[in-house]
Amino acid sequence: MPDRLTLYTIISAFWMAFLAIIGTNIVVDGVVMPLKTAAPKEGEEQVFAYPIEVPEVAVASADAGPVQRPDIRPLILAANPDDGKAVFRKCQSCHTLEAGGKNGTGPNLHDIVGAAIGDHAGFKTSDSLKAIGGTWTYEKLDDYLENPKRLAPKGTMSFAGLKKPKERADVIKLLMANTANPPPVDAPAAP
Ligand code: HEC
Repeated sequence: MPDRLTLYTIISAFWMAFLAIIGTNIVVDGVVMPLKTAAPKEGEEQVFAYPIEVPEVAVASADAGPVQRPDIRPLILAANPDDGKAVFRKCQSCHTLEAGGKNGTGPNLHDIVGAAIGDHAGFKTSDSLKAIGGTWTYEKLDDYLENPKRLAPKGTMSFAGLKKPKERADVIKLLMANTANPPPVDAPAAP
């Protein structure tokens, strides 16, 4: 059994702790909070006693403009046309590549890099492909070969697309090797 003095000491220690907690609460609620979290006046920013970090998240919206594609050109510079031959097996049921090659389901692809889009002699190109406009830049080739329906939603190339950037770079390198004057790869991207 503890003696009387010890008992008093324990009780008063609890009592002090209790008062300290209540006291702190009164100070925080009554003094700190109203000071720091007072409702902002017109044009003022809300200030919190404890800063709350809200990371800014970019939300893609319909009017955010065209999607920026990762630049394929470094991969093209590093690519090997021989690796492109393996990839081209997926294309050759519909396309020939050599000079003067026949059009099949798709047009002959000789000299295609930098050429006007959908302008192959003797091939009936869809209006959707023609509507892309301009020439086959590296960026557009990369985009089209990843998913032909994105640039030409009603185009007639029934091909799921090459999902791996390296495959696209390799096959583009092969198309370049079969183009007399491909545009320089490291030129600034066309606007
Ligand atoms: C199932 C047949 C088919 C396959 C497979 C195919 N294509 Fe095509 N491709 C077409 C057709 C059809 C068109 C014409 C599209 C149009 O007019 O909308 C076309 C158009 C193109 C064009 C644009 C030609 C122009 O005149 O501007 C390129 C470049 C092209 N294909 C590259 C490829 C490559 C590279 C592959 C393989 C990775 C491939 N295609 C696989 C059928 C195919």
